[in-house]
Amino acid sequence: MNVLLIGSGGREHALAWALSSSPLLTRLVCAPGNGGIAQVADCVALDVTDHEAVINLCKDEKIDFVVVGPEAPLVAGLADDLNAAGLKVFGPSKAASQLEGSKTFTKELCDRKNIPTAAYGHFTDAETAKAYTREQGTPIVIKADGLAAGKGVTVAETLDQALDAIDECFSGKFGEAGAELVVEECLIGEEASFFVLCDGRNVLPLVTAQDHKRAYDGDEGPNTGGMGAYSPAPVMNDAMCARAMEEIILPSVEGMAEAGMPYKGVLYAGFMITETGPKLIEYNVRFGDPECQVLMMRLQSDLLPALLATADGVLDRVDLRWHDDVALTVVMAAEGYPGSYEKGSRINGLEEAGSSEHVEIFHAGTVLENGDIIATGGRVLNITARGATVRQAQERAYAAIAGIDWPQGFCRSDIGWRAIEREEQAA
Ligand code: AMP
Ligand code: GLY
Repeated sequence: MNVLLIGSGGREHALAWALSSSPLLTRLVCAPGNGGIAQVADCVALDVTDHEAVINLCKDEKIDFVVVGPEAPLVAGLADDLNAAGLKVFGPSKAASQLEGSKTFTKELCDRKNIPTAAYGHFTDAETAKAYTREQGTPIVIKADGLAAGKGVTVAETLDQALDAIDECFSGKFGEAGAELVVEECLIGEEASFFVLCDGRNVLPLVTAQDHKRAYDGDEGPNTGGMGAYSPAPVMNDAMCARAMEEIILPSVEGMAEAGMPYKGVLYAGFMITETGPKLIEYNVRFGDPECQVLMMRLQSDLLPALLATADGVLDRVDLRWHDDVALTVVMAAEGYPGSYEKGSRINGLEEAGSSEHVEIFHAGTVLENGDIIATGGRVLNITARGATVRQAQERAYAAIAGIDWPQGFCRSDIGWRAIEREEQAA
């Protein structure tokens, strides 16, 4: 079959890499893709916000199945429009994408289904939000309601920080996304991510991961889209996964079906593992980036039939196999990221660096230009390795990085530290 993959990041390179090994695949087209994806798919330029153009491309290229990588097209209703045009899609409807597109929507679902999450208030004006915040005290979390490219959340240690964040949100900095906000109890514990496929009714748990959101070593510095990740998350043992399914995932999926917006796609749950158990921080309606890279590295089974079964509503007939190994990915970013950075530098040595059988280098922000790989993004490469332990996967990833010639790039040197500490304590 012919598959169209939408997106251009490291997540999409990992998906393209996994899809390209499927015996079911005839041709993989990616829009717009990147320099790495171009090695496993035909990349085409396409304005994804123009749904008519996407439908026309599908007709021209005889596409049988569309896989949507990022959240923005889903929240904008791309899956609905493709479905209406008779195309099969992996990715939730516009209504179901509110799970990521609106914090208030998710909080109300939690209320209805008694799902453990942080206590909260929902506000449409600064004065009431500030009064509630003063009453609650710090630490406290301020969140723009809508999609704010990962920048809409402030974990405030002081009252001033919290009040500033409220003003910032209502100042229009996040556009529409900041017209409403949620003030939340600050949860204490260890964060972990859990991924499931869901076909509206059936839920197939995938695996767990943890990421590093801060830019610099020791989890210091500004927040980013993610500087590295590993799977599994040691804190998510079998008992914790079972509780998360029972207490959070299954009631959520049931609540979405009851609300007439059955959830179909991958559901990415961000948890805080607190003293009393898992609590939901947020849902995303897509794979994590860079979490997807470690998931794909551990997946033994064919990805394509699982995504098809999700769209077809027959996930109860799917079973996925995973490598027991740990996978770990280190993000190489352009110097300056997450602030301003230069584009256009050349990266050398990738082929040799990625030649080990335990290593895959996924591209996140590159283009292929006259045979050269050129950096074009903030997060640029994801050096991903498998190993028997987190330590071994980490060593393999950093050994590969040592072979990459890219003076304008940087990465954290401690991805996986928490899991390695745990591993070494247990040994
Ligand atoms: P989000 O954009 O919802 O993923 O939030 C970004 C990050 O803020 C999360 O990954 C957490 O580290 C942190 N965060 C969000 N909500 C809370 C909360 N209620 N308590 C503690 N930390 C939070
Ligand atoms: N790595 C965090 C995310 O994909 O949202």
